Amino acid sequence: MSDWKIRRASTIQTELEVPGDKSISHRAVMLASMSNGTCVIRGFLASEDCLCTVAAMRALGIEIENADETTLIIHGKRRVFTAPKTAIDCGNSGTTMRLLAGLLAGQPFRSRLTGDPSLSKRPMRRVMEPLSKMGAKLSTEGAGDRPPLVIEGGDLQPIDYLSPVASAQVKSAVLLAGMFAKGKTSVTEPTQSRNHTERMLEYFLVRPQKVDLTVSIHGGQTPESRDFQVPGDISSAAFWLVAAAAQPRSHLLVKNVGLNETRTGVLAVLLRMGAKVNEIVENEEGEPIGVIEVRGARLRGTEIGGKEIPNVIDELPILAVAAALATGTTTISDAGELRVKETDRLAAIATNLRAMGAQVQETEDGLKIAGGVPLHGAKLDSFGDHRIAMAFAIAGLFAEGETIITNTECVNTSYPGFYQTLERILKEVPGKQTPVISSLPQQ
Ligand code: S3P
Repeated sequence: MSDWKIRRASTIQTELEVPGDKSISHRAVMLASMSNGTCVIRGFLASEDCLCTVAAMRALGIEIENADETTLIIHGKRRVFTAPKTAIDCGNSGTTMRLLAGLLAGQPFRSRLTGDPSLSKRPMRRVMEPLSKMGAKLSTEGAGDRPPLVIEGGDLQPIDYLSPVASAQVKSAVLLAGMFAKGKTSVTEPTQSRNHTERMLEYFLVRPQKVDLTVSIHGGQTPESRDFQVPGDISSAAFWLVAAAAQPRSHLLVKNVGLNETRTGVLAVLLRMGAKVNEIVENEEGEPIGVIEVRGARLRGTEIGGKEIPNVIDELPILAVAAALATGTTTISDAGELRVKETDRLAAIATNLRAMGAQVQETEDGLKIAGGVPLHGAKLDSFGDHRIAMAFAIAGLFAEGETIITNTECVNTSYPGFYQTLERILKEVPGKQTPVISSLPQQ
């Protein structure tokens, strides 16, 4: 299944669910492993990234049973881990490596974390700095603070850390290390990033304190074992949300999806672009879960930048596709972080959009997209990046002719089953083909 062939599709009218949230799945496995008993994690995302975290916890002595593919029974060992016998392979997963670094900083043994070629190019200085300040010894074997990452953990001192980046991975690494420090550890971020770690600590009855952009935790607390429901991943839903939003007369319902306010920026952007979007929270225990409804429209360009960026960081590839389909110009700024994701996403988006005929200007920290130019099919590389593969599969639904996406195995890191869902949606396409975006009259 390494190449996908995509053809133009008409109006989408369907309802669907997406697999479990990736960020939340990682954290649920780690916190349940630290807890004082047995936790059943339901809705777990059985993707390659999250399975790396499961394998890591097993390598550290935690017993984890698979009741079924998405249900894990985790036997917490009261924050006691045993030294891994070999290096821990974090695969493609930056979240596994950086969060694990925090947890391992507090352990009285040496660990070595490796990753695939993409992860081996990603910067680790951002977690090495605070964790070293807390007293752990961290070094990298790759040039310029790139993995493999070696951690010699031990007794930690609490710190007050002012993070230079709005990164949930950095914040979470410091908080996880803070669980093992003597005293109160605080981390302040420049802008609010996703808050799943704080929420989950609270759910597991470890009391973090939150004042503005500072989160603090008192070390020495053991998470209280509880069962946990992982919601569907809004970052996975985003591909379908845009597929529906950019096509007038489309109607989409996504059920059982996470609606955490630090993750729903994509809905605000689509609203600004002219789509009709509703969200209904149905359950708020642990994480808010509910339904998103989208009705398509002729989209218009917008500005995405500033404080909004961390809230849409993983959705920017698909929002850039929405921008190319919209009338007018969309400017994405303050998004330099995209250059250090699974690939340089700014470069990958610009390359692929241009190959489809779109007008794109790449800036140091963003993109300027002059939308509304009809897209044509092209042969596009995923650059080994799951979100690039899926974003351009959706672009292919709006392009004249055939779009081929190569190197698509990477989607298994976050969304196994994406292509099957795409095939299902296309089979359900109602009636005859409706007008395509490039030939729709301007509204
Ligand atoms: C994540 C945080 C974000 C995000 C990544 C998952 C997490 O990265 O892009 O996909 O689970 O904490 P940064 O913390 O580097 O911004």
